[in-house]
Amino acid sequence: MTIGPNIIHFKDLGDQRGCLVAIENLRQIPFEIKRVYYIYGTRHGVVRGLHAHRKLRQVLICVKGSLDIYCEYANERKLFRLDKPTMGLDIGGLVWHDMRNLSEDCVLLVLANDFYNEADYIRDYQEFLGEKEGMIHAEEGIQRRSPSYSKH
Ligand code: TYD
Repeated sequence: MTIGPNIIHFKDLGDQRGCLVAIENLRQIPFEIKRVYYIYGTRHGVVRGLHAHRKLRQVLICVKGSLDIYCEYANERKLFRLDKPTMGLDIGGLVWHDMRNLSEDCVLLVLANDFYNEADYIRDYQEFLGEKEGMIHAEEGIQRRSPSYSKH
């Protein structure tokens, strides 16, 4: 079943000196991290992303500043505001997403479960809609074929 994007909260291990967040494979992040990249210095008004991934799973963490992440998946649309280094947005599966309203100081850190692979990108919105419909129908088919159990 398609699981939509969801917010992960990280523990702040800080003390009177300041804040600290620690992230470990398969602990605070639900996958093994193979790649890290970060987006910063985004010019005012620029919208980034505007694509979906076929398989890649990523956690996006705004370590400085703030931004909005618009997500579209299955039959849902959601807007997430990232404005704390203690929150991450977990995005996997077929989710069309873009990043908007990045503050001037925004640093968006992304942890990914695979290496960069352009073939995993869907950059054409119509193509995304087609693949999304295909997936919804496939999932409906699986649900119809699944046996239903009744209690005796
Ligand atoms: P792009 O996917 O266009 O960024 P976004 O969708 O977040 O706005 O990536 C910009 C360029 O960087 C593009 O030429 C691909 C390259 N790139 C890598 O080489 N490795 C990576 O891990 C990422 C994310 C991008």
